[in-house]
Amino acid sequence: MEYRKLGQTEISVSVMAMGCWAITGDATWGEQDESESIATIRAALDVGINFFDTAEMYGDGYSEEILSKALTGKRDEVVLASKMNQDRMTDPAGIREACENSLRRLNTDYLDLYQIHWSHPDACWPEVFEALESLRTEGKIRAIGVCNFGSQDMHRVPPELRCVTNQLPYSLLWRAIEFEIESLCQEKGLGILCYSPLAQGLLAGKFFDPESVPEGRARTRWFSSNRPQTRHGEPGAEDKTFETLERIQEISDGLHQPMARLALDWLLQRPGVTSVLVGARSPNQIKENARAADLALAPATIQELTEITQDLKELLGPNPDMWQNASESRIR
Ligand SMILES: NC(=O)c1ccc[n+]([C@@H]2O[C@H](COP(=O)([O-])OP(=O)(O)OC[C@H]3O[C@@H](n4cnc5c(N)ncnc54)[C@H](OP(=O)(O)O)[C@@H]3O)[C@@H](O)[C@H]2O)c1
Repeated sequence: MEYRKLGQTEISVSVMAMGCWAITGDATWGEQDESESIATIRAALDVGINFFDTAEMYGDGYSEEILSKALTGKRDEVVLASKMNQDRMTDPAGIREACENSLRRLNTDYLDLYQIHWSHPDACWPEVFEALESLRTEGKIRAIGVCNFGSQDMHRVPPELRCVTNQLPYSLLWRAIEFEIESLCQEKGLGILCYSPLAQGLLAGKFFDPESVPEGRARTRWFSSNRPQTRHGEPGAEDKTFETLERIQEISDGLHQPMARLALDWLLQRPGVTSVLVGARSPNQIKENARAADLALAPATIQELTEITQDLKELLGPNPDMWQNASESRIR
């Protein structure tokens, strides 16, 4: 496993991190056995993953509780990232309580990275800064990051917040951040943490047509607004998405490598990426995903993957929000 510095900190994180949303078994992901989640987290540690991403929002705190059970006695070996809900941006008085609740659920006295989950147009920045700064001064958080911040939002972040990362949706099938955000993160020295790197399972090669994707996962803009749980109101990009998946599959077949491994390694080779937050629900999945860190695809393959996903990138456009259309995008 390779390790990189978390933004401009001295905190060393594995390039492959475990995202801890799916282990809650919520409406998006479907049922999940807690003992399997705990085994998955322990398997992550065994393969050198030291970085875990969770949020107060995931299962309303349940994800943090599972992590705490799995990591008993291992606190010093791991880097824990959690997030506060978006409404804290307009009600900063709740930030301290949110952080302290996360600490209690995680059974720890500090978070390595505390992130703002989504930006808010009416954010009370001076108070948000003050609340986060006092938590940092007290040692309750080591570093501060944002998630889902577009260029406008990044310009509004007070420099004294010393934000170190921006967590963004990024995969071979979701390249919207390349239009503008990726380079701005680099300019500002923000490490990019990639979320939904397997396009919520599409890039794991388990779905061969749009109909086979369960409704909870078909809420995104890849899918037609005819799908019952969508709220983007767009036609979607189902044909192009599945045509692109077939082409990626052909390349992975030619290399005798699973598609997920190619997708993860492609991200690791993108400029500005610190770590890839991949969801996994079984020990086998996390072990398999960790192997991507050793793949080191040849530059010609990286180039080919970039080229065959270009049309989909253009079709989906520069709006990075996976769930909302451009006029209602929450990534501004
Ligand atoms: N900041 C934000 O707003 C935000 C938003 C979304 C996600 N995130 C973070 O990013 C993390 C990852 O994103 P994500 O969970 O949305 O999507 P993802 O990592 O792209 O996909 C996770 C799913 O892919 C499947 N999978 C993973 N490894 C596999 C393998 N080796 N073989 C076969 N299938 C495999 C599993 O699906 P099955 O369930 O079918 O097994 C798993 O639940 C989250 O856990 C969370 O920490 C952050």
